[in-house]
Amino acid sequence: LQKERRIVQEAHEYSAKLYHYMLQNLEISKPAKDYLRSRGLGEPLIEQFGIGYAPPRWDTLTQALARKGYSEAEMEAGGLLSRRQESDGYVDRFRDRIMFPIHDARGQTIAFAGRLLSDGQPKYLNSPETALFSKSRTLYRLHEARSAIRKSGQVVLLEGYMDVIKAWSAGIHNGVATMGTALTSEHAAILRRFADEAVICYDGDDAGQAAAQKSIPLLEEAGFRVRVCLLPNRMDPDEYVSAYGPEPFLREIVEGAVSAVKFQLIYLRKSHILLEEDGRIRYLRDAVRIVARRDSPMERELLLKELAQEFGVALETLKQECYEIRQRDK
Ligand code: GTP
Ligand code: MN
Ligand code: MN
Ligand code: MN
Ligand code: MN
Repeated sequence: LQKERRIVQEAHEYSAKLYHYMLQNLEISKPAKDYLRSRGLGEPLIEQFGIGYAPPRWDTLTQALARKGYSEAEMEAGGLLSRRQESDGYVDRFRDRIMFPIHDARGQTIAFAGRLLSDGQPKYLNSPETALFSKSRTLYRLHEARSAIRKSGQVVLLEGYMDVIKAWSAGIHNGVATMGTALTSEHAAILRRFADEAVICYDGDDAGQAAAQKSIPLLEEAGFRVRVCLLPNRMDPDEYVSAYGPEPFLREIVEGAVSAVKFQLIYLRKSHILLEEDGRIRYLRDAVRIVARRDSPMERELLLKELAQEFGVALETLKQECYEIRQRDK
């Protein structure tokens, strides 16, 4: 079994080199190169991230792996090839896609994500779960980000591959992403070994904000202090960096990240109509419930003070409400 894993791992190393070589050297890769450039990924980033291209043919990798003597069945189990639909035999799993190699924590290539050059489904095709690759444990770029995470004591969590790459180009070298799946407690535990602060920098759209809301308790349970970035106009970090440049992204978005509880209060606003008294009361009640979960009495008081001021309610009233919730939930 150990031997099989090693063979699949070597085949991934070889495939990553081949995809990268083809992107850099084949005429057929020109549209892929142009696409990457249109998204702001020039040579340095292509090299840094080992990006490649899988041509449209059905058998590019199938042939190359066969020439290297790899067994097709083993390569299918490893996620590089697919079984033919109608007849016997195997075909390339990834065709006509930009290829992002995915590494384990030691830096070994264990999987790929392949992006279409135009609209279509699925936009990203990932390797399947294999003996080497588990989505619930893998974090994109952890092997490269680890030293920066440790040094700063902080990890920046992003949603997508492109976001990690563009954040890196803006100077965020402690950024990682999940594999298009939700953050798990396993991810949180792995990251907690290197940092005590997590900065969530997901997409500014509804899906991203909902995902942030879900990741907060998970990260706090792992022992992280959590902050959340607020991106304007539903942008994602990649779009923000392209539109406004690296400086505003660093200074305003990442450094300006708000505390988890602030984010929860902002998020809560979206589901209440504050123009109506009913809505205001319900919002205040839910908001105090969020505040009541904070352990620090000082933090609770400061947050309640802000709510009291904004809604014209006596601080004492909110304190009483908060106290009752805490007694009840004890
Ligand atoms: P770009 O369009 O290339 O900028 O990607 P994005 O990262 O902005 O995409 P999006 O916000 O739609 O999705 C975030 C992440 O979810 C991606 O980076 C992927 O990891 C994952 N994802 C998106 N679309 C798909 C898909 O069709 N299939 C799978 N398996 N994952 C996807
Ligand atoms: Mn190269
Ligand atoms: Mn999205
Ligand atoms: Mn996105
Ligand atoms: Mn994007």
